[in-house]
Amino acid sequence: MRIDIFTIFPEMFVSPFDASIIKRARARGLVDIRVHNIRDYAADKHQTTDDTPYGGGGGMVMKPEPIFRAVESVRGEDECPVILLTPQGRLFKQAVAEALAQEERLMLICGRYEGVDERVRQYLVTDEISIGDYVLSGGELPAMVIVDAVVRLLPGALGYERSAAEDSHATGLLEGPHYTRPVEFRGWRVPEILRSGHHARVAEWRRQQSLLRTLERRPDLLATAPLTPQERIWLREMGYEGPFEQATTNDE
Ligand code: ADE
Repeated sequence: MRIDIFTIFPEMFVSPFDASIIKRARARGLVDIRVHNIRDYAADKHQTTDDTPYGGGGGMVMKPEPIFRAVESVRGEDECPVILLTPQGRLFKQAVAEALAQEERLMLICGRYEGVDERVRQYLVTDEISIGDYVLSGGELPAMVIVDAVVRLLPGALGYERSAAEDSHATGLLEGPHYTRPVEFRGWRVPEILRSGHHARVAEWRRQQSLLRTLERRPDLLATAPLTPQERIWLREMGYEGPFEQATTNDE
């Protein structure tokens, strides 16, 4: 997969993309990430990327020409999603990450200041994404969030025992608790079941913990999570009063 990022702060991306899973995915050739400075595509000698808004008001607006020139020259003849990071976009969720991970190529534009000239949205961008209902200083951190969530889904990126399919949200539920050694820490013991060596019962316990944690913290997720008929009955007994919108599943 190739990901092109357009920003006026390329230096922000250096260390986050040079650590952990993203670093390894790049080294393995699973993803080719290129960060482009929009300023390099500005035509004037001051390399201006923003200007005052028509109609007045405070703040600055990112000019359209450098952004169009940057995206069009990097994209060439390819067609691919061109995503603007903005608090006005559709909400980023695990399902969005999964869909983006299927693309061969992605372009991410990081907005700054009060906003981006509307013609960028209308005639260049194909999608707008927000990472949550809060306002950040720009699209750089959201672009990093999206790259991280997408890259770890690429086959071979995790490359260890745990698969991304078991993560919180990938199953539609939150994950239950995890423990490692020591078996007793300050008098707090690891649940016996996890040390029983009984794989089927451990799996059942984990599923139950996952359902309980979701019920306690994010009951809204239960409406759309894949659940067996027995799990629905059990959740009702545990006090869940919300709707079930998904068809039931038979698998564990
Ligand atoms: N730019 C500023 N805030 C943002 C957010 N929450 N999501 C995406 N882009 C943003």
